[in-house]
Amino acid sequence: MRTHYCGELTEMQIDQEVTVCGWVNRRRDHGGVIFVDLRDKKGILQVVFDPDDKEIFADAERLRNEFVLMVEGKLRIRPEGTANLNMPTGEVELLAHGLQILNISETPPFQLDDDDVHEDLRLKYRYIDLRRPDMQYRLRLRARVTRFLRNWLEDHEFMDIETPMLTRATPEGARDYLVPSRTHSGAFFALPQSPQLFKQLLMMSGMDRYYQIVRCFRDEDLRADRQPEFTQLDIETSFMQEDDIMSMMEEMMRGLFQSVMDVNVDAQFQRISYAEAKERFGSDKPDLRIALELVTVSDLLAGVEFKVFSGPANDPQGRVAALCIPGGNALTRKEIDVYTEYVGRYGAKGLAYIKCNDIDQGRDGLQSPILKFMPDEAISEILRRTKARSGDLIFFGADRASIVNDSLGALRVKIAQDLDLVEEGWRFLWVVDFPMFEHDALENRWNALHHPFTAPSTENPDELEANPGKMLSRAYDLVLNGTELGGGSIRIHNREMQLRVLKLLGIDQQEAEEKFGFLLTALNYGCPPHGGIAFGLDRLVMLMAGANSIREVMAFPKTQTAACLLTSAPAAVSEQQLKDLSIRLRKPQS
Ligand code: AMO
Ligand code: AMP
Repeated sequence: MRTHYCGELTEMQIDQEVTVCGWVNRRRDHGGVIFVDLRDKKGILQVVFDPDDKEIFADAERLRNEFVLMVEGKLRIRPEGTANLNMPTGEVELLAHGLQILNISETPPFQLDDDDVHEDLRLKYRYIDLRRPDMQYRLRLRARVTRFLRNWLEDHEFMDIETPMLTRATPEGARDYLVPSRTHSGAFFALPQSPQLFKQLLMMSGMDRYYQIVRCFRDEDLRADRQPEFTQLDIETSFMQEDDIMSMMEEMMRGLFQSVMDVNVDAQFQRISYAEAKERFGSDKPDLRIALELVTVSDLLAGVEFKVFSGPANDPQGRVAALCIPGGNALTRKEIDVYTEYVGRYGAKGLAYIKCNDIDQGRDGLQSPILKFMPDEAISEILRRTKARSGDLIFFGADRASIVNDSLGALRVKIAQDLDLVEEGWRFLWVVDFPMFEHDALENRWNALHHPFTAPSTENPDELEANPGKMLSRAYDLVLNGTELGGGSIRIHNREMQLRVLKLLGIDQQEAEEKFGFLLTALNYGCPPHGGIAFGLDRLVMLMAGANSIREVMAFPKTQTAACLLTSAPAAVSEQQLKDLSIRLRKPQS
């Protein structure tokens, strides 16, 4: 129907007869002349309706926002002084001599240029929301990202292979979405939390390099960067070590940012150990754009009278850490109270601080309710370690190390945002040397820090069992600007080791055979050494788009309570359907 897209008309087409199609973005009546901003996927074009053309003009008067039009006309330069340099088509306009109203629209539930529409309304009318140029840009960016990644991987011998959606539980740590089977009464499929086991089986099948852009399903608490169904770029390779995989993925990311964003990222990504990340940043996904670091001061405060400090300082599981905020002296009492409440959400029982008025005056230049508890040597060493300067403020956390890390780690990011201390740029980081297991004190058991198929850094199962808490894994996470983009590992390819890891996780041989028998059997038939990684595609695109939630880069996302407001899913089903599935619902209580 069209000869051109609205958004691509410029001086190049002056005096040409063109036909465009699109939506009425806005109609303005100007002393007899009607202007319509016509919008399509490439942009907006100003269309002019002249009152002398009576028939068309009468139709133009009926136009309302979101009517769908086909307009024929002649492109002309806008009159002197009326060009709009903010838009690519701003120097031209279309003088209409043909108008066809292809469809009308009710008044939309929100204005497309209103940036403050409640998200629920946007999700309910997603097809209108997606007409916004912002949303069009994000989905286009997403498509460019997937196109680049596919091409890159295909060029590097990776093969796209689909894996089942109706499958067995895949242990990635979340709850499963279950699908009842009609033909096997009382039995359920699980939707995959990831294709982890299938991609390992594909390595055992000799596929050598696999990739898939694949939907994963996890029934977990949702946040800005978590959805119940999300997309992974899933990758697995045979006969490669972690260094090879990491370098290759770096090259892919560099290529992606170069090609899609025109950005040069670091020639080599920084790598730090899990332990160092926790120690310096309180987090295993630190945002390196923020220069602030946590500093351990436990050793300096072990002898002080103040129990809040000396307790954790003397506890092997405890930690006392300081976080120096440049210019933080300007924080008011009230602001400090707000931060104290903020760290409380992460379990901290308080937030001690020292204000540095004048460093050169030693103790007299400092101000703090806890100063009286601290010996001079401790104070001067704290100032030295934190590199505090006059005008700074030093916060303290004292508790179990995990609470100090979580709370000061979160505070570090929050304050940096509030005080505008986050640098611009793209800071990639590999986190390596993860512990194999985390001890769950409540249940007195080991949990896998990654998934149970991750190889330990030893080949000897006895060594693993001797000290599971100290054992490191061959896992690696890629972090970008404080977001965990992806995670992977070298896998266990030895049956004995796999059984022993499962055993440590509390899964005995019988249960292991029941749940993962197919994998354990496959390990008997010539399994190559293999490893891989999966990236959260939604998160990657979210960061690239500068969006603050992955919902902004998904066409039809779900709400925080895992519902689709557009289709009203999930929904009740008929009695008959339930009967077919042998499911009986409990009667609602009256
Ligand atoms: P993992 O569980 O770390 O690893 O997932 C890989 C990446 O997927 C993204 N991600 C999510 N994105 C949005 N919503 C969610 N609910 C969600 N959960 C995870 C994250 C994460 O880094 N099979 C392993 C990978 C492997 O070992 O190869 C796995 O799934 O960006
Ligand atoms: P209190 O003696 O409870 O008034 O605490 C004195 C100071 O120590 C206050 O600034 C508290 O916020 C702070 N504080 C209390 N508990 C902790 C803790 N676990 N970690 C860091 N600071 C704390």
